[in-house]
Amino acid sequence: MSGGGLHYDRPVITFLEAVWGEGFLSPGGPDEVARVLQGLDLRGKRVLDIGCGAGGITALLAYGYGASEVVGIDVEAPVCAAAEAFARRKGVSERVVIRQVEPGPLPFPDRSFDIVFSKDSIVHIADKEALAAEVFRVLRPGGWFAASDWLTSHDGEPSAEMRHYLACEDLDFGMASPARYARALAAAGFVDVVLTDRNPWYREEAARELARLTGPERAEFERLTSAEDIARQIRTWEAMQPVLASGEHCPHHLRARRPRP
Ligand SMILES: C[S@@+](CC[C@H](N)C(=O)[O-])C[C@H]1O[C@@H](n2cnc3c(N)ncnc32)[C@H](O)[C@@H]1O
Repeated sequence: MSGGGLHYDRPVITFLEAVWGEGFLSPGGPDEVARVLQGLDLRGKRVLDIGCGAGGITALLAYGYGASEVVGIDVEAPVCAAAEAFARRKGVSERVVIRQVEPGPLPFPDRSFDIVFSKDSIVHIADKEALAAEVFRVLRPGGWFAASDWLTSHDGEPSAEMRHYLACEDLDFGMASPARYARALAAAGFVDVVLTDRNPWYREEAARELARLTGPERAEFERLTSAEDIARQIRTWEAMQPVLASGEHCPHHLRARRPRP
């Protein structure tokens, strides 16, 4: 991340978990994780989770998918603490390692993971080409990269609606298009690159999330953080609807394989 204050501090974690479920800082819960991983067998595998957040998925990859070891990395201390606590609560601490890292090259030797996973975190990493090369480097030949991320439909100037949404998010998003992701993955050496547009799903899901924030549950959300904070979150969710409706904000699943030599 680009320095400055924390983006995922304790109140933000509390709010996002209330929207998306304990341990989840992104939408869709275990069902969406299952779609990202569809067809892959994690049993006995060593897995890297880039941007593990509060660790709900990192732990799930161990207790629900049978990974022998899951290494979750993140750049912020509060989410790393939350992820470690979550793994303990789920009884998978011996198989889940959480590491706070600096942004940039992945601090692992070449060919050290069977699968690299990431859920809605690469959006924070602007240099998609460097990231793709790093993921390729740490994967064993034959290994898979399976991720979900928040993309934008084009690499040109964002529309006025997108600029408004990004200003509301106040996160250091570095969104890129599916074409740029595909080029970055291919240039890194990946094959079998598949990108799947999740906009049709999230467009509807985000409308339901906004209805929850503004409906009878609002007082509950306000008790968790504050009325002011929830008003700000509602402005962000309102700003997100038009860019989802237009398709400019287009979450995708990404899948790619490091070929065997
Ligand atoms: C939207 S959250 C998703 C967390 C988790 N994957 C989930 O789905 O619940 C994005 C996470 O990416 C982390 N992040 C931001 N920049 C990062 C970087 N350069 N390397 C690793 N993680 C990063 C943030 O701190 C945050 O925890």
